Amino acid sequence: MEKASVQWSSWLAVTTIATIFLATNAQATNYPTHPNLSEDFYARTCPQARITVFNVLVRQLALNRNLPAQLIRLFFHDCFVRGCDSSVMIESTPGNLAEVDGFPNRNSIKGLDVIALAKQKVEEDCPGIVSCADIIALAARDILQLSRGLYFPVPLGRRDGTVSLASEANTNLPSPFANYTQLVTSFGNQGLSEEDLVVLSGAHTIGVSHCSVIFRRIWNFSATVQTDPALSPAYAAKLKALCPIDQPQSQTEVELDASMGGNFFDSNYYDNVLNGETAFISDSALLTNPSAAALVRALGRFSTNPFFEKFGLAMVKMGFINVKTGSEGVIRKICSKV
Ligand code: HEM
Ligand SMILES: *[C@@H]1O[C@H](CO)[C@@H](O)[C@H](O)[C@H]1NC(C)=O
Ligand SMILES: *[C@@H]1O[C@H](CO)[C@@H](O)[C@H](O)[C@H]1NC(C)=O
Ligand SMILES: *[C@@H]1O[C@H](CO)[C@@H](O)[C@H](O)[C@H]1NC(C)=O
Repeated sequence: MEKASVQWSSWLAVTTIATIFLATNAQATNYPTHPNLSEDFYARTCPQARITVFNVLVRQLALNRNLPAQLIRLFFHDCFVRGCDSSVMIESTPGNLAEVDGFPNRNSIKGLDVIALAKQKVEEDCPGIVSCADIIALAARDILQLSRGLYFPVPLGRRDGTVSLASEANTNLPSPFANYTQLVTSFGNQGLSEEDLVVLSGAHTIGVSHCSVIFRRIWNFSATVQTDPALSPAYAAKLKALCPIDQPQSQTEVELDASMGGNFFDSNYYDNVLNGETAFISDSALLTNPSAAALVRALGRFSTNPFFEKFGLAMVKMGFINVKTGSEGVIRKICSKV
């Protein structure tokens, strides 16, 4: 009895906090809408889904401090390949190499186990109702709300895809070696703007990369230049110490945010871009276009707004990419299996 009431009161505290964020931030911004998605999509069919997902994340965040980075990247990688349809979670079969085993995902996409756990809990309450795609979208927002108080709405009603191809992950997801033109094309193919590119790249304020991805930039930039001149000498030296020249395939993890801000979701990324302290060529590429560079300078000056507001808007927009709704797609029972 006593245990139950303790759980109940912490559950209440969590929901109250969520409600306060919701109430204080919801009115200020005009978020984009989608004709077939709505925040109360499961209000009659699975009203507890949202809090069930939230509670799983509360527990998992306590176990894994890098979970925010993993879940935000998972949402991005889901949406850029066949739309936000959870195709990123489908596992490979003998006849099919799935997205999850494409180059941008293999060895580096994480958080799928947490989504699977949330889905399992939701299925216990309302079998066959809530899509894996919606749980990924909810989780990406909830984990930012939990860790940093950043709120944006998540309209629901996405359905799950049945097709997942590694080759499409390889083509649709932008390369860390991409220049500005290539990045704009990649985002443009998804209906996202140059501003969305700059704003969403700000997600690299948290999380890690692997030395194997950074290696060329620091040790083998071109036939004549060893190290990308866009990197500050001090930061390049730091990366070289972490990722030695004799280990091109090193799986050592490097924090993306090199600055004082540390592994917090804030606008430090933009200061890092300006200072030549980012991991990827694609990060520095934002300075090669005048209007993108101006936005980088504008967003770097404050630790939260306007970055938080713009990031929320862009995440809502990203969550609408090629969604399957109505009778399209399916509701997968187990996110990794078609
Ligand atoms: C603009 C083009 C982008 C490129 C080229 C890119 C590339 C990459 C690469 C190569 C990694 C490291 C993978 C590894 O070695 O583990 C990474 C990590 C990450 N990316 Fe991006 N990314 C881009 C945009 C985005 C966007 C739009 C988001 C989300 C809104 C995002 C969120 C993240 C996060 C949070 C991490 C850290 C993941 C972790 O710690 O597990 N990225 N990105
Ligand atoms: C909304 O659903 C209708 C009916 O299923 C469909 O024809 C339409 O394309 C959908 N709209 C969008 C923007 O996906
Ligand atoms: C970007 O990269 C592509 C492919 O390598 C190349 O054709 C193009 O010239 C580059 N653009 C700029 C502005 O460097
Ligand atoms: C650097 O890149 C070139 C061309 O891709 C490759 O032939 C060479 O082995 C690389 N060197 C190192 C040290 O990785």
